[in-house]
Amino acid sequence: MIDVAFTRAEVRPADVALVVDVLRASSTIVAALAAGFERVLCTADVEGARSLRGPDRVLAGERGCRRIEGFDYGNSPAALRHAPVSDLVLCTTNGTPAVLEAAEAAGEVLVASLLNLDAVVEAVPAGADVTVVCAGTDGRFALEDAYVAGRLVQRLGRDRTDAALAAVQLAGSYPGPHAALVQSADARVLRATGQAADIGFCARQSLFGVVPRVVGVKPGVAVVERRAATSHSQTPIKQQPTFA
Ligand code: MLT
Repeated sequence: MIDVAFTRAEVRPADVALVVDVLRASSTIVAALAAGFERVLCTADVEGARSLRGPDRVLAGERGCRRIEGFDYGNSPAALRHAPVSDLVLCTTNGTPAVLEAAEAAGEVLVASLLNLDAVVEAVPAGADVTVVCAGTDGRFALEDAYVAGRLVQRLGRDRTDAALAAVQLAGSYPGPHAALVQSADARVLRATGQAADIGFCARQSLFGVVPRVVGVKPGVAVVERRAATSHSQTPIKQQPTFA
């Protein structure tokens, strides 16, 4: 079975959750691991992110789509071309909280975007029940996330809930990803903050073969690493990850 949670409030238990915040947090997580970061530490709280600063960590994040004061980066996936250190701490408004909430509800959590569409479809274990978790925007439906959810449902042949069927219809009504993303409310905010280039970057398909996976959770932090290409098994999420 495959289901879609159009907002975080709809998150339900599942074997596998695919977290989508295509503009821009899930795209940033994929780009960060592709750029060479070994792990992304997802937090929902700005002070929590600051407390994680360390010699082998840099901080990225946004509020209102603008870089948080004192952070090394904003939330632009196109800005992450190389990794100066091993860890990226990421704190965003909707995307990183969605990763944390999905990690509480699902046996396995993978991070999905258009940038890694083929790779994430390939990584979903056969026979597993899947929920696509859309980060949405401030608790509301986000067109761009629903579009990507529809693309994932199209590719993952399974019985579909009504929400999954609706997502497929929505995705099918656009000629391509850019047409859907550019129409969204989040795209309007990105244009208004001088970050329109990120819309085109996040609309690119299967640019990276990276599949980010939650490997550990501690209060307020989810640790995301590249999923090993070979493992199809569902190793449960470690509750207490081994990092300071
Ligand atoms: C979010 O998590 O709310 C978005 O990724 C914000 C953004 O696009 O910067």
